[in-house]
Amino acid sequence: MSDILVHTEGGVSTLTFNRLDKKNSITSAMYAAMADALEAAQADAAVRVLLIQGDATIFSAGNDIGDFLNAPPSTQDSPVFRFLHGIAQFPKPIVAAVCGPAVGIGTTLLFHCDLVYAGDNAAFSMPFVNLGLCPEAASSLLVPQMFGYHRAAEALLLGEPFMAEAALEVGLVNRVVPPTECNAIAQQQARKLAAKPLSALIETKRLMKKSQGPAVLERMGEEGASFGRMLREPAAREAFTAFMEKRKPDFSKV
Ligand code: COA
Repeated sequence: MSDILVHTEGGVSTLTFNRLDKKNSITSAMYAAMADALEAAQADAAVRVLLIQGDATIFSAGNDIGDFLNAPPSTQDSPVFRFLHGIAQFPKPIVAAVCGPAVGIGTTLLFHCDLVYAGDNAAFSMPFVNLGLCPEAASSLLVPQMFGYHRAAEALLLGEPFMAEAALEVGLVNRVVPPTECNAIAQQQARKLAAKPLSALIETKRLMKKSQGPAVLERMGEEGASFGRMLREPAAREAFTAFMEKRKPDFSKV
């Protein structure tokens, strides 16, 4: 079965991470599948809302670390950048249901969603620094904007997980719900949106995003250039190798 499931019903196209044995970490092929699904959902008049979900135990462990080590993205048309541009510019509403860990891009993609529902077991983290990397998905712009600078610095410099209630407090999620009900509640909210006039949804989202749109794309480009370079540098290589070897990284020489 595919690592990304796509199912459309009642005007809602639902993308489900389906790589549970690897904690829904995202490979290049999965980014390509998600980028294709975004393009298809944008073009399909029968799709009015997109929903992104994992299961009740895990949203996503972020980028597949083996991929980072063996096949880091090299150009701006790499699948990960296609996905990020696609989600940042997607004109229809996007809803997310997040339970369990949401690491790296598992958290940063949420800044490009319109409604986010979290299980009370959700644990968000952006451990880029701990991996010798810098933020992506315009999170260096959007996290300080949403959290305030000092809380953003805690999330992005320390990279420690924060739980659903803290995410609610800073405005990253709309509601905290029982994990076993999270996907159903998000689906219900997506169906509510899907019953509304699509032209009004699209125009309202466009107007709300208008002032920050160009800045988001510019920041994504700048982050992408740094991230791509840092992936190949000693700190990141040590962090990824340590993860694969199930040991603590040793940054004393980098
Ligand atoms: N890339 C590749 N494989 C990953 C992965 C990732 N990002 N995250 C987890 N996995 C794999 C593990 O290697 C393990 O594989 P194995 O069974 O073949 O040994 C399997 O998924 C289960 O992971 P495990 O760490 O045992 O699960 P856990 O429940 O104890 O912890 C996480 C879950 C998400 C907290 C933990 O896996 C984690 O921190 N992952 C790395 C997250 C990360 O740094 N992502 C990059 C962000 S930029």
